[in-house]
Amino acid sequence: MAGPWPGPSTRQWQRNPCHVQWQCSPQWAVWVAEADTALTRTQRHYREGAAELELGDGFFREQSRPARDLSVLLAADQACGVGQERGLRWLDLMAGCGIRALRWGLEAAGRCAFSPEIWVNDADPDRSAVLKSNMKRLEQKGCPLHLFAQSAERLLTRAWLDGDRFDLIDLDAFGSPSALIQPALKALQPEGVLFLASTDGRSPTGHDRSGAIRRLGAAARVHPASWELALRHQIGFVARQAWMLGHGLEPLLSFSDGRTFRTAVRLLPHHAEAELNSLGLLARCDVCGNQQVQSLLRLRAWEACLCPSGSEHLLIHGPLWLGPLQGLDFLRRLSDASVPVAGATGRLLHRLLADSGSPARVWSTAELASRLGLSGPPSVSALVQALRDAGQLASVSGVMGGQIRTNADLQMLLQLCSTVGGEGP
Ligand SMILES: C[S@@+](CC[C@H](N)C(=O)[O-])C[C@H]1O[C@@H](n2cnc3c(N)ncnc32)[C@H](O)[C@@H]1O
Ligand SMILES: [Zn+2]
Repeated sequence: MAGPWPGPSTRQWQRNPCHVQWQCSPQWAVWVAEADTALTRTQRHYREGAAELELGDGFFREQSRPARDLSVLLAADQACGVGQERGLRWLDLMAGCGIRALRWGLEAAGRCAFSPEIWVNDADPDRSAVLKSNMKRLEQKGCPLHLFAQSAERLLTRAWLDGDRFDLIDLDAFGSPSALIQPALKALQPEGVLFLASTDGRSPTGHDRSGAIRRLGAAARVHPASWELALRHQIGFVARQAWMLGHGLEPLLSFSDGRTFRTAVRLLPHHAEAELNSLGLLARCDVCGNQQVQSLLRLRAWEACLCPSGSEHLLIHGPLWLGPLQGLDFLRRLSDASVPVAGATGRLLHRLLADSGSPARVWSTAELASRLGLSGPPSVSALVQALRDAGQLASVSGVMGGQIRTNADLQMLLQLCSTVGGEGP
C-alpha cells in the first residue's frame, strides 16, 4: 500500500497551484486538441449546487442528485478532517460530464487547508470535450487538476504502480463494479473512502442467480427486502476484497432507489474481529416467511421455522454483510456540514439517520399483514413502538418503505402486528 503522504513541499501542485495538468494518454492528447470544436455539437446547460455546466449528449440523470450531493458531503467531510493536516487527492473515476469533480472543487475544496488534487476520468472519448470545458472553472480557481480519458481499470492500475493513492474515489459505474473493487481499494489511502454505485440490480436481488455467483461469489435469492439484501451483498463483496488486501472496512452509508445500489465505505488499515463476524448467511423460509441469520464464523445447522416440516423450505442468501449499513455518527456529521443539498437528499439523510441498518433482519409489513389476513399493512411506526415496548430492537427501515427492522422473532412480530391491526400504509 501507499507509503506516508510525501508532504506538501514535494508535490508539484503545491509549488504551482495555478497550473492545470492535463494528464495525457495518447488518445487524450488528440481529443484535447479537438475539444473546443467538438463541444458545439450538443449544449445542455444545467445547474446544481455551485456548479453550472454543460451536460453534453452523454449519460446524465438529474434524479441522481442525492448521490451527487452525498459525494460532495463526503469530500467536504474529508476536507474538514484530514484535509486540515495534509493535501488530499480525489478521483471521479467515471465522471460523465464531470459534475461531481466540479462540485468537489467548488463546494468542498475550499474547506481544505491545502488545495486538493482532483482527478477526473471518463473512458468515453466523446465525453472529453465537455469534460474539459466544464473543468475550466476549476482551472481558473487554480485547482490542481488531472484529466484522463482512460478505462478505469487502466487508470487505477497505473495509479497503484506509480504509488498515487486517493483519499476519495467516486466509482459511479454502469452495471456491476465488482471487477473494479480490488483495483480501487488498492489505489485508496488507508482511511480513504470509496463511494460505489452498481446498476446491476438483477444479480444481487436473486433475479439472476448465476450472475450473483459470477459477480459477487454469492447465492442471491428473491426476498421482500430486495434492495436491502442487494446492498448487503455489495458491502459483503467489498469487505472480502478489503480483507484479502489485509485491510478492514467500515460502511458509512448505503441506499438505493431500486435502480442503483450505492454504498460509501471507509478502508481501514486493519480489520477488526467484529468485522469478520459480520459476514454471514441469511435464510428465509419460502413458506412461513421466517428469517434467520448466522455469521460464517459460527456457522451451525439452521433452526426449525414455524412450518410443520421444519426447515426444508429455506432459501439461503450469502455470504453477505450482516453488520450495520450506516455509521450514524458519521451521518450526523454529514448532515451538520454546511453544504446546501436538495430536499430529496435531506430527506434521505433523515431516513438513514433513523436506521443504522442493524439488526439485519427486515420484514415487509405488507407481507406480515397478508399472512394475518389483515385488510392492509399496519402502521410501521406503531409496530416499531409496540416492538420497543416489548423490549425488542426495532426501527423503520431507511432502505425500503413499509419495512421494519427488528430482532424479534416472527411469532412475536405476527402477534404484535395483529394487535396493532391493519391501518393501511
Ligand atoms: C453513470 S455514468 C457517470 C455519471 C456521472 N458520475 C454523474 O454523476 O452524472 C458512467 C460513466 O462511466 C463511463 N464508463 C463506463 N465504463 C467505463 C470504464 N471502464 N472506465 C471509465 N469510464 C467508464 C461512461 O462513459 C459514463 O460516462
Ligand atoms: Zn417455514
